[in-house]
Amino acid sequence: MTDLQTVSVTVNGQPYERDVEPRLLLSDFLRHELRLTGTHVGCEHGSCGSCTILLDGDAVRSCLLFAVQVHGHEITTIEGLAPEWTSASGLEALHPIQLAFRETHGLQCGFCTPGFILTLVPFLEENPNPSEEEIRQAISGNLCRCTGYQGIVDAVRLAAQEMGNLQIAEETRTD
Ligand code: FES
Ligand code: FES
Repeated sequence: MTDLQTVSVTVNGQPYERDVEPRLLLSDFLRHELRLTGTHVGCEHGSCGSCTILLDGDAVRSCLLFAVQVHGHEITTIEGLAPEWTSASGLEALHPIQLAFRETHGLQCGFCTPGFILTLVPFLEENPNPSEEEIRQAISGNLCRCTGYQGIVDAVRLAAQEMGNLQIAEETRTD
């Protein structure tokens, strides 16, 4: 039997420690060891983007990493995204990107949705007012088997607008 290695990692703000086989993929670690099944696995070789998570704030494909590689790092999965945000009304504990996907019918079966959303979080942080071409470029590495791309592009536009409004509201409050 392969020697186990200890992985200590913070996921969605919570510390975890597990002894795992060095060959265990990060996507399987999240889904099977931590039971965070919002990270979806489609192709398992880096092509579809459905397993995308945030590693120290960067969008990465968890099927292309081993769990042991994230020892000492911070991860955010789709389950950890919502609590950081509330909508302008304060009634919905969803990230503005999640709300925008719901509003614009940016999802059908939802299989690809966590990967799209986590790809878009750092993109919109870096580029808060993207053009349609930039949006299409940003999501070009994610596949939607339901081919709902127009709704997804509309969702990104709406999310950018809503996140801009929230930022203005925040700045006004702290003035
Ligand atoms: S499952 Fe990771 S990119 Fe497809
Ligand atoms: S909504 Fe079904 S795969 Fe994208």
